[in-house]
Amino acid sequence: MEDNFPIKSVDHVEFYVGNAKQAAHFYKTAFGFTHTGYLGLETGTRDRASYVLEQGKIRLVLTTALGPDHPIARHCFVHGDGVAVIALEVPDAQYAYETAVHNEATGAVPFTEVSDEYGTFRYSAIRCYGDTLIKFVDRSDYNGVFAPGYSPTRWSAENVNGNRYKGFGLASIDHIVGNVELGAMNRWVDFFAKTMGFTQLMHFDDEDISTEYSALMSKVMQNGNGKVKFPINEPAEGRKKSQIQEYLDYYQGPGAQHLACTTGDIVATVTQLRDSGVEFLRVPMTYYNDLEARVGKIDEPIEELAKLGVLVDRDEEGYLLQIFTKPVEDRPTVFFEIIERHGSRGFGKGNFKALFESLEREQALRGNL
Ligand code: FE2
Repeated sequence: MEDNFPIKSVDHVEFYVGNAKQAAHFYKTAFGFTHTGYLGLETGTRDRASYVLEQGKIRLVLTTALGPDHPIARHCFVHGDGVAVIALEVPDAQYAYETAVHNEATGAVPFTEVSDEYGTFRYSAIRCYGDTLIKFVDRSDYNGVFAPGYSPTRWSAENVNGNRYKGFGLASIDHIVGNVELGAMNRWVDFFAKTMGFTQLMHFDDEDISTEYSALMSKVMQNGNGKVKFPINEPAEGRKKSQIQEYLDYYQGPGAQHLACTTGDIVATVTQLRDSGVEFLRVPMTYYNDLEARVGKIDEPIEELAKLGVLVDRDEEGYLLQIFTKPVEDRPTVFFEIIERHGSRGFGKGNFKALFESLEREQALRGNL
């Protein structure tokens, strides 16, 4: 089938943060990222500072404003640290923008070309849920560090040797989940379908999400080549406050809830993350008692998974291993998932109950359940 909206992959995810220098240190030391690019006063940019961090194929950009009246400062004031831009690498940023806007996306940054001695960098952006932007990036004619305006750090040279910043083994972005308001999920499902040709991969309703309190619904949208997956969650009426509603209350509206990063060795990756201070959600040890009966034979020793709190789920196509961090800022908003897939293309439906009960324990500790 012809892909009418070609997207190569997720290019980067940009966070607006209160203090990019310290956030960069956190993602380097706690998550194993390498600092590869910088933009700020020293490089001639007067209003903001940005740090590019890489690990495997994952690129994070951490940006802070250098003054109070900047829109980035406003974003941090309202939302706290959070995902401001989800950037997709496309073969043609002009076509992507015009097609999306023609199909009722709201334009945010019209097609722009910037050149320096390393070539030409092309981009554009449309509005997504809340204050989040989807940016279209074409870097096919650009050979510099990240984008014009950025300076390499001393680590950028490693890239030349084909060392893709191995770090703790995080390899690529598997999916990025958005939380939207009650009743808005289908509108955003339609948005991805209409503006960028995404199709629905699967959905989860209250039947699947069956804790005593948690109530949410979720639909997973994916692009034409299946490389970009955006699940959309909305809260549902439950006995107590939905975990999605807690996010919406503290993020002050819709936004990106979690980034799932793949690894080829979840035991090694999670051990390094944990030893570096990353905090993970824990399920009760009883989860592991009858695990093999539920998911069958897996390659990893169950004691190792139990020690770390890694969850397992299986479907017709294979199995997956996954674990979720606690929120990575004081507001209970953005968190990370670490996932290792062995054939399964699912999202760990069999773990929802144990996982959401764990989330609710944390939510109750915050006085928000
Ligand atoms: Fe996820």
